[in-house]
Amino acid sequence: MHSTARARERAVLVAVDAPRPLIPVRDSLLELSRLAATAGIAVVGELVQSLKRAHPATFIGSGKVEEVKALVASTEADVVIFDDPLSPAQQRNLEKGLGCKVVDRSALILDIFAQRARSIEGKMQVELAQLQYLQPRLTRAWTHLSRQRGGGVGTRGPGETQLEVDRRRVRERIAQLRKRLGDTERTRRMHSDERTAIPVPTVALVGYTNAGKSTLMNALTRAGVLVEDKLFATLDPTVRRLRLPQGLTVLLADTVGFIHKLPHQLVEAFKSTLEQVRTANLLIHVIDASHPTWPEQLRITEEVLVEIGAGDVPVVYALNKSDLVSLGALPQVSPPDAVVLSAQTGAGLPALLVRIEQRLGAGLSRVRCVLPSDRSDIVALLRRTGRIVEEYYRDGEVTVTALVPEKVAGQLRKEFPGTAAG
Ligand code: GTP
Repeated sequence: MHSTARARERAVLVAVDAPRPLIPVRDSLLELSRLAATAGIAVVGELVQSLKRAHPATFIGSGKVEEVKALVASTEADVVIFDDPLSPAQQRNLEKGLGCKVVDRSALILDIFAQRARSIEGKMQVELAQLQYLQPRLTRAWTHLSRQRGGGVGTRGPGETQLEVDRRRVRERIAQLRKRLGDTERTRRMHSDERTAIPVPTVALVGYTNAGKSTLMNALTRAGVLVEDKLFATLDPTVRRLRLPQGLTVLLADTVGFIHKLPHQLVEAFKSTLEQVRTANLLIHVIDASHPTWPEQLRITEEVLVEIGAGDVPVVYALNKSDLVSLGALPQVSPPDAVVLSAQTGAGLPALLVRIEQRLGAGLSRVRCVLPSDRSDIVALLRRTGRIVEEYYRDGEVTVTALVPEKVAGQLRKEFPGTAAG
């Protein structure tokens, strides 16, 4: 270790301006520099190359590699971060050519996740994603990077090279993590099966990173979820109870944010956590309406939702940060039925709650009836066909308020003439 070691790594960012990008290259670079800042890295330079097709060996053209090299030297950068995924070979060739560390957006996102994971499960998921990212990079051609290792007892098998030991270790650890995560998921399933005995609808907050999901969660439930103007402030999902205006109680879950070019290893590793999204009764898709590329962010989020198998879950769109946008500038028609709100000021929150209740109870009538307490069959029918809002027992009678299909409400009125619209 040198005593002159800088506290913060210095990075040069490199992006390619390809034809028809999903997000304009300038915006994508801006996002990359925010990711770097979130990871604690100082950005000291940027370069963009217009390119139709990526160069198979070095991603950017050879002339550009020299330009990046000169910029690295003049800015005394420690690392070059590419905005696009690099193949292991490209990364290797670039490190040789530039003479410094090269990472891509995926590695940076994985790094942020590794810094931010708090729960045991979250940490295991991130480690699994990191090892899967590392695996194809553990080849002999990487010896240019191999550090002098201590070696010694337990680090080498007879006749094995360090590389083979490393590869075997990575393989074993991946298998171990998969098994442990599988066990954790099974335990969670068991608990959620217990929970479904009393069916409480779940509503999951989804959206692009920094859209304001945690702020909305706090505003709605006072959950005390971490809110930061940083990307991926929330990694571990939080679930809280939320009571809607007509009395229906739901479970509200805050989930991890999505982003442009989210490493597929992460999506894969987080699939079990994202199950909350897949199995939710309703999604609230939070959109940062003040962001210049919000329509692209919306599309990217929807693509990830499809990728994790949540493409069919009903959605309520929440156009957030309305306090930062003048009303005229707010999108009028798209997305359909969006609720305009500000999680920060609280404007529009009552309308969102009403919308959630409407969507969950769509087509259901609210009824209130008094039944003899031995008529648990009726209570079970209400529960099976709709949702119980309230239920209390007194003096051998049970008073139930429920949201049920009109047909069931009619049946109830016939059998118990005292039934009223709740
Ligand atoms: P990830 O953890 O990255 O997924 O972010 P998130 O979607 O949970 O966003 P978060 O709630 O952490 O908010 C991101 C930033 O936006 C914070 O600085 C919030 O204070 C800010 N923010 C959220 N909602 C609003 C809003 O309605 N108006 C304004 N002005 N700022 C908001």
